[in-house]
Amino acid sequence: MQAIILGTSLRSIIEDSLFGEPMDTPFGTTSSSLVQTEIFGPRVLLLARHGKDGSTYAHKVNYRANLWALRDLGVNQILATATVGGINSQLNVGDIVIPDQIVDYTFGRDHTFFGDLPIKHFDFTYPFTDRLRQILIQSRQDPKPNEILNRGTYGCTHGPRLETRAEITRLKQDGCDLVGMTLMPEASLARELELEYAAVCLVVNAAAGLNSSEIDLKQAHAVATSSIEVLRRLLGRAVQLLD
Ligand code: HPA
Repeated sequence: MQAIILGTSLRSIIEDSLFGEPMDTPFGTTSSSLVQTEIFGPRVLLLARHGKDGSTYAHKVNYRANLWALRDLGVNQILATATVGGINSQLNVGDIVIPDQIVDYTFGRDHTFFGDLPIKHFDFTYPFTDRLRQILIQSRQDPKPNEILNRGTYGCTHGPRLETRAEITRLKQDGCDLVGMTLMPEASLARELELEYAAVCLVVNAAAGLNSSEIDLKQAHAVATSSIEVLRRLLGRAVQLLD
């Protein structure tokens, strides 16, 4: 069974009337109900990461409840969507990138299912499931293949504020190509539960200080809205390819 965790922009593909009650788990309540719709077929559950009304900020999302509930309902493959700021100078607003690495700058989020003892380490060298990444790359159906979109390091900041120019300089020096606020601890919690997980990132702005101007959030929102259909089709093709 599959699930798609929808970021802010794609949340609107779920009609309001389809939302039920969020689900209770030992780790608290999920961001939204887990919605079964005709959009991607009956085997695909949809979860609105920021809640039905989109009001839960990234640092307040109950990632543990979300992942736990999906696993409880039999999900073993998760596709996640996220909007990002572009750091790599070769990226343009509107690009859709399938990241392959993460640097985590978040702090204080509930980031593990494992209690204090016994300490359990697990491998996280490659934070995304490569098979799912390849399916997403294939599903993007680029008119002109562009390698730069097929990988990238996602820097996860804590939010809700955007970054300073100096912070983006640092992220760039650290090797980040993209910056967003949501894929951690989502990706590592998926790994703890041994779920396959990969993400689709939509570049909605150039990261702080990379343009002469400040970040125009209205413009970023407009980019997100205008890309909904492209992302919906990409995900539709991807779920066909999953088993
Ligand atoms: N920074 C962090 N998160 C984001 C950005 C950004 O510039 N754009 C969209 N999500």
